[in-house]
Amino acid sequence: MYRVKKFDDLKGLRDFSNQLLQNHLALYQGYVKNTNQLAAHLIHLVKLGKADTMEYAEMKRRFGWEFNGMRLHELYFENLTKRPVPLRKESPLYEKVWQEFGDYSTWERGFRSVGGMRGIGWVVLTRDPETGRLFNVWLDEHDAGFLVGSTPLLVMDVFEHAYLQEFGMNRTAYVQAFMRAIAWPVVERRFEAALPPPRPATAVIKRRAS
Ligand SMILES: [Fe+2]
Repeated sequence: MYRVKKFDDLKGLRDFSNQLLQNHLALYQGYVKNTNQLAAHLIHLVKLGKADTMEYAEMKRRFGWEFNGMRLHELYFENLTKRPVPLRKESPLYEKVWQEFGDYSTWERGFRSVGGMRGIGWVVLTRDPETGRLFNVWLDEHDAGFLVGSTPLLVMDVFEHAYLQEFGMNRTAYVQAFMRAIAWPVVERRFEAALPPPRPATAVIKRRAS
């Protein structure tokens, strides 16, 4: 059973009205509710021997959409803050961004440009665990384009409901406001949690003098 997470401390977020946030959080709550309902109903249909029906197939297709809608919103709200601080220049993430993109501003320009793409979806900075590489990824809706196995580090909602009420069709202004409100300590923690554990130091076995 998934529970609705609280994001009350976002109230008063710079450039985002409380009404916009309230509406957005209500939408998120719908994804949590639908994820729970679908998960239960899909099992129910299997028990009834209806797993070969169109109803089951369509609901199964929808499950990923609802689940990702829930999880992506949680990641999005978690990486926003009223008290933003820049990404720390001494952090492992900052170092990795430089390594991957050449410099921070190239990464940021890339991320913003993905945010300007036509369509509705998400922009996600992800880390591929196999190579450690970082990518700015576009997701259509909630469920198309995500890199399998990758770890989402920074998530930006670019569905119109995320900005239309406050910024009209000016998505650039919304992206600007989002970039100013990033909770970088949260993003850094996600990155560091995704890193492989350090290798244990080679044990030095001292032979006892016999
Ligand atoms: Fe959203």
